[in-house]
Parts: sequence; structure tokens; C-alpha cells
Amino acid sequence: MASKFFPAVPRTARQLFQSLPKTQTQYRPFSAAPQRCSDSLAVHRNKPDNNPTVPFKFSEQNLKLIDEILKRYPPQYKKGAVMPVLDVGQRQHGYTSISVMNEVARLLEMPPMRVYEVATFYTMYNREPVGKYFVQLCTTTPCQLGGCGSTKIVEAITEHLGITPGHTTKDGLFTFVEVECLGACVNAPMVQINDDYYEDLTPESIKTLLTALKESSAAAAAEGQSPKVPAPGPLSGRQTCENSASLTNLVDPVWDPATMMRKDGALEASTQ
Ligand code: FES
Repeated sequence: MASKFFPAVPRTARQLFQSLPKTQTQYRPFSAAPQRCSDSLAVHRNKPDNNPTVPFKFSEQNLKLIDEILKRYPPQYKKGAVMPVLDVGQRQHGYTSISVMNEVARLLEMPPMRVYEVATFYTMYNREPVGKYFVQLCTTTPCQLGGCGSTKIVEAITEHLGITPGHTTKDGLFTFVEVECLGACVNAPMVQINDDYYEDLTPESIKTLLTALKESSAAAAAEGQSPKVPAPGPLSGRQTCENSASLTNLVDPVWDPATMMRKDGALEASTQ
């Protein structure tokens, strides 16, 4: 009789123990951050200005450029050119619309779905229209820690343009987004505006830069000239990524074999 009830004893004891209130340390260490979804949808939704019925054709000049690009690929692998050809389409149309993707698929003789997969995976393809100046601020860790820190630059841009990341100004001039590392960490914090990098930013210098871009654009519209965009690169006065405290190592004269090499008899002379 005792052996029949025996297995129930440890089980009951375990259940009793489990029903006791637990302290935090008794739980498995586990933490979870709230899910953060991307700003842009990974799927396409038809809109009046972005649907498959909107015609798109590459310009003559761009068709020549695409011919040049395709020469880099064996004919049977021309679909390998999908990324540069999508880029050409984005530059011509302003963004990678569904019609651009379909035209790329037709040109490269590949299923449209394969093109959609590429365009939705890589964040450099804008599937929605962006402003004239596409402001991509790096907020990855080195840019958060370097210089004044990218958080201050986010605040400065938000204050100056009146928009938060992921939005476009009402005049269509600026689109502001946060991006991951752009590979210029040594000049942190930095921003990419269209194809140019601006580095060693401070809240003041980014505001000055945005104002200059806006003014140059307005002047160009009035006078029919192309905008005079400030020179890209470090805005701190550095040329590239050299030490801003000037040369601090390798300051000794360069070792010159002509004067430093032992000549005949010099060894004896130096050891005496
Ligand atoms: S972390 Fe900003 S460029 Fe690398």
C-alpha cells in the first residue's frame, strides 16, 4: 500500500513548491524588448501613383548605361545585374516604384517576384518617393558614441526641419531617416545626403549644412542654375580621418639606410 502511494509524495511536494510565490531570481533569466517594425512595408500596396499600370521606360541614355553594365555579366547570368539596374531605375524615376521593378524584370528576363525580393530586402531601394535631399543619419553605436553623439544630431535635425525620422518635409525638400552603419565610423557622427557623406558633425554644423542645401536649392530654382552643394567630407576641418590633434606618433625621422648603416670599422669604433 505504501509503495502504491509513494510516487505521489514527491509529485505533491513538487506541485506545492511550484505553487509558492517566486522571487525574481527563481525565474529563468529572460528579457524581451518590444517588437520594432520597419518604417516601410515589406510588401507593395497599389497607390494611384505607384501601381503596375503607371508606365515606366528607361531613357535612351540609361539604356546605353544598362548595356554597359550587362557587359560585365555572362549573357546567361544577366539577372546578376539586378541591383545596379534597379539603381539606375531609381535614379531616373526618383524611387523604385512597382513599374520600375517590372521593367527591370522584363529587361533582365527574370520573374518579377525575384526583383521584388531584392528591392524589398535592401534598404537603399526607396519604394516610396523621397525628398530632393535624402538625409540618412547613422545612429549605430560608434556614431552614438563618437564626437557629440548621433542622438544630438537627431535632435538638431528634428528641431531644424520640424520632422521626425521617417518623414518628409512639407516642401518635399528633405526626407530624414535613421540608418545603420555607413562605414565612416572613424568620422562619427556622420550623415549621408543623397550620394555624399558629411562627417564630424555637430548640432551647429548639421543645421548650417541643411540651411545651405535649402538656400542653394531655392537659388537654383530662381536662377535656373544647378544647386551649389557644400563640399562633402569632414565638417571639422580635417582632410579625411587623420588625427585632429595632429601627428602624435611616428614622429621620429624616417630611418635612412644611407646614414644609419654600419660602415667598415664603425662597429669597432662604436664598441670601444
Ligand atoms: S557607426 Fe556610423 S558610420 Fe559606422
